[in-house]
Amino acid sequence: MGRSTPFYVCQSCGAQSRQFFGRCPGCGSWNSLVEQSNPAADGRRRRTTPSPTADGAASRARRSEPIQTVGERPLLRLATGFPELDRVLGGGLVPGSLVLVGGDPGIGKSTLLLQSARALADVCSVLYVSAEESAQQVKLRWRRLGTEQAAEGEGVSDQAGLQLLAETDLELVLQELEALRPAVAIIDSIQALHDAELSSAPGSVSQVRDCAAALQRLAKRQDTALLLVGHVTKEGMLAGPKVLEHLVDAVLTFEGDRFASHRLLRAVKNRFGPTHELGVFEMRDRGLVEVTNPSELFLGGEGPCAGTATIVACEGTRPLLVDLQALVSTTSYASPRRTATGIGINRLHQILAVLEKHLGLPLSRFDCYLAVAGGLDVEEPAADLGVAAAVVASYRDLTLPAGTVLVGELGLGGQIRSVGQLELRLQEAARLGFTRAVVPRGSGLAPVAAALGLELLEAGGVAEALVLALGVDPASDL
Ligand SMILES: Nc1ncnc2c1ncn2[C@@H]1O[C@H](COP(=O)(O)OP(=O)(O)OP(=O)(O)O)[C@@H](O)[C@H]1O
Ligand SMILES: [Mg+2]
Repeated sequence: MGRSTPFYVCQSCGAQSRQFFGRCPGCGSWNSLVEQSNPAADGRRRRTTPSPTADGAASRARRSEPIQTVGERPLLRLATGFPELDRVLGGGLVPGSLVLVGGDPGIGKSTLLLQSARALADVCSVLYVSAEESAQQVKLRWRRLGTEQAAEGEGVSDQAGLQLLAETDLELVLQELEALRPAVAIIDSIQALHDAELSSAPGSVSQVRDCAAALQRLAKRQDTALLLVGHVTKEGMLAGPKVLEHLVDAVLTFEGDRFASHRLLRAVKNRFGPTHELGVFEMRDRGLVEVTNPSELFLGGEGPCAGTATIVACEGTRPLLVDLQALVSTTSYASPRRTATGIGINRLHQILAVLEKHLGLPLSRFDCYLAVAGGLDVEEPAADLGVAAAVVASYRDLTLPAGTVLVGELGLGGQIRSVGQLELRLQEAARLGFTRAVVPRGSGLAPVAAALGLELLEAGGVAEALVLALGVDPASDL
């Protein structure tokens, strides 16, 4: 591609083309191609090809070595001050790693990272680069967040290890990183950084990719752990090119309900630990506070009532007790209304179809509303049996006996399928005072349940499970 040839870059997938298209040939997005006038800028600057001499060939040959002789370094991890964040990271922040933290506007990304910076600054040097807010704004937040720790008697150190830089120019940020060589650097946000060598606007694909790559090269070289804040698009995806997610070592998403104060932190990618771990926080006026017993957050608390069932969802290695509520009422529409909050609507349709077919319940004449308490999204199929129980209980106006939890996936044939980490789920249920658990047949956990003081009710099919859970046959008297 010649230097003066214009070319076009898709702002959603990063695909390049010489021709303008209204719709990106790569990802199919409309109006996402933007003209780029400086095509080879990053390639030109960064490419270093060794000369193809005999000497070069010999030195290239020496670059690889047998895996047995590769030196090992113990994987150090820095504590971020939030054990919840450490767990999502796989045990702490790894020096030299690159972590992308994404989330909706105003969800608390800056708060989370500034609070972590406070804690990290007590043990190592931290550079906080604020590309979106002025140094004054960050200072004000830093003060507000600090008073909580002071109030709790933790004492506030002089924080000499925390340096603040309000800058958007990539070159200046790189210079500062090189000069300070901090153990941790926080970039808030990667979309607001700007490489003056590229003509495109800040936040565009080439800018984000270029800035992240330049920061990564420097961070790996000097073993600085980098935390990048990333914006999300209105569809909830991380903004910027997908290559950014491939480039970094871990991608964390910070989510929350606009109407609730709790915030959930998940790892969607992690090269240094498991994914799908969940960290739970609560946003208070003095900053984020960890929720150490999240099950209490997602249990309704109003006690057993008609149409409510409790399930044990598992987020990573963390079991969570969650209340499901269903409302089934005669429809006044030609086609009944079905809404689901916190559970996929297709999953609800499938469970309703199974109940109609295998229990003979005429649910197609009823509206059905389903909600997960506390604004949690429950994606795993282990919630199926709980959904079925809540729906049937609401339909028959029944209350499940107090202290009952349900765990099991519902097959289309009405069978209850086994689920993973059942022992962990039973332990959490017992810990929170639950006494009965309806689970798939063949779990082999009867001795465990007995030791936990749980009555284990195993069922092979949905009808059997609901009889065991409700104590009456929901399909009778129809
Ligand atoms: N003075 C304050 N008192 C109490 N809570 C505040 C105060 N200022 C901010 N907050 C809380 O912090 C939240 C904003 O946090 P933060 O700025 O960390 O979010 P963010 O994800 O970084 O947002 P952005 O995407 O705009 O950078 C607000 O939604 C509010 O709940
Ligand atoms: Mg912010």
